[in-house]
Amino acid sequence: MKLAKIFCAMMLAVFAAALSGCGSSALSLDNSVRKSVAVCFPNLTPSWQRNGAAMQQLLEEEGFTVDIYYTGKAEEQAEQLRSAIAKKPGCIVIGALGTDDQYVDVLAEAKKLKVPVIAFDRVITSSDAVSYYASFDNGAIGEGMGEYLETALGLKSGSGPYNIELFAGGQDDNNAHVFFEKTMAVLEPYFRSGQLVCRSGQTTFDKVYVADWVSENARPRIKQLLSQYYTDTPLQVVLSPNDDIAGVILSEFSAAGKPAPVISGLDGDPAAYQRIREGTQTFTIAKDANVLTAKCVRMIKAVVEGTQPDINDVTTYKNGDRVIPAYLCTPQIVDKTNVDIVAK
Ligand code: BGC
Repeated sequence: MKLAKIFCAMMLAVFAAALSGCGSSALSLDNSVRKSVAVCFPNLTPSWQRNGAAMQQLLEEEGFTVDIYYTGKAEEQAEQLRSAIAKKPGCIVIGALGTDDQYVDVLAEAKKLKVPVIAFDRVITSSDAVSYYASFDNGAIGEGMGEYLETALGLKSGSGPYNIELFAGGQDDNNAHVFFEKTMAVLEPYFRSGQLVCRSGQTTFDKVYVADWVSENARPRIKQLLSQYYTDTPLQVVLSPNDDIAGVILSEFSAAGKPAPVISGLDGDPAAYQRIREGTQTFTIAKDANVLTAKCVRMIKAVVEGTQPDINDVTTYKNGDRVIPAYLCTPQIVDKTNVDIVAK
């Protein structure tokens, strides 16, 4: 065994072209480059800060040097990517901010320079430079939100009618569309049966998205909804696509002197756990940064070592005919029954 390894190392030194075939030994030939990772994340929500911090810590523990870039603007992210790619790191990890088309050119550059790309949390389907996708199961998140509301409101056993208003995430993010679509698939029968009533009539993504996922962008709309449609009747249920936005919505309920509705969230922000304890936010779907980054770091290691990463989904995400192999982690519902266990 030992001999075989030594032989492999000698062969590598002589035939550098055979690099990829010899697994982890490849690392030692060009260590400084391969052991560097560039991470480009949005700075939109506390969850991204948690992802960035966890990523940095885990990668450093694995001996990688890490360059982390944050921004809230898609054009700036393209610039950050350009400079990160020019340094030819061993791998680039992207939490995409822009539309898919915005990544075509810059990722073509990554491909040219043979820099592998991993899409993190948000998929990029426009570029064949994307080798893998590490995320949570976005479909399960959307379904989970719908099913939680269905149970909490007793919809299956016919209760209602309840007044509901809907909010969705940012228009350019595939996740936002998936979450909304899957939640609505669960709730739609109850709109039809009259158990859920949306007084504003705003029930499609294009009417309810929160531009760029910026939570403050939800404020004018909830203000308007409350003052236009809910002065003589309570707004009892709100679909919020994440915790940050739930925080803004709830602050407007409180400013209007109204009791908190049944309201969803996503991410597992500490502020959301606090609101769950206080009884204002009903639940969140926690996406543990440590779980996702641990999977992603294993993917990065496999990519730089030329081995196969763990994959558990080869059907959901595609770029044309090409599958984007993914690892989709399992999210966790957190409400008043388990918040003290989850958020110790
Ligand atoms: C993520 C959410 C996050 C949102 C805003 C989405 O793509 O999946 O977890 O709350 O972006 O940053």
